[in-house]
Amino acid sequence: MPIAIWSPAYITGDATVDAQHQKLFQLVNELHHGIVSGHGKDVMGPVLRGLASYTIEHFATEERLMATASYPNLPRHKAKHDGLTKQVKDLLREFEAGNLALPSTLSKFLADWLTHHIREEDMELIHWLQAQKK
Ligand SMILES: [Fe+2]
Repeated sequence: MPIAIWSPAYITGDATVDAQHQKLFQLVNELHHGIVSGHGKDVMGPVLRGLASYTIEHFATEERLMATASYPNLPRHKAKHDGLTKQVKDLLREFEAGNLALPSTLSKFLADWLTHHIREEDMELIHWLQAQKK
């Protein structure tokens, strides 16, 4: 059962951003599947690392869009990205050090974070960018 369910409500209208968001949903669902299946570190390590690096790559894509267009809310939006990046990096470090078992609340947290962030900050950003082109 996936934890992050894609819906048209998450379409921002930027094809690159939307494709990356869908990939993030897929990665969160893979993580969730791994957690509920009780997979060990050998499986979950690469899943978690893959999710962390794709998240960072995706945030960089959005931050480039914001910087290029001199988006006024860049600092606030980037602060949200930086907050999650730090949490994910800390988690990965703990996990790799063997100090952490991955709870199923983690994938739920990530799915919630992602859907809220898309509905709020990302929608606002892409709508603003589109309004600049008119
Ligand atoms: Fe974002």
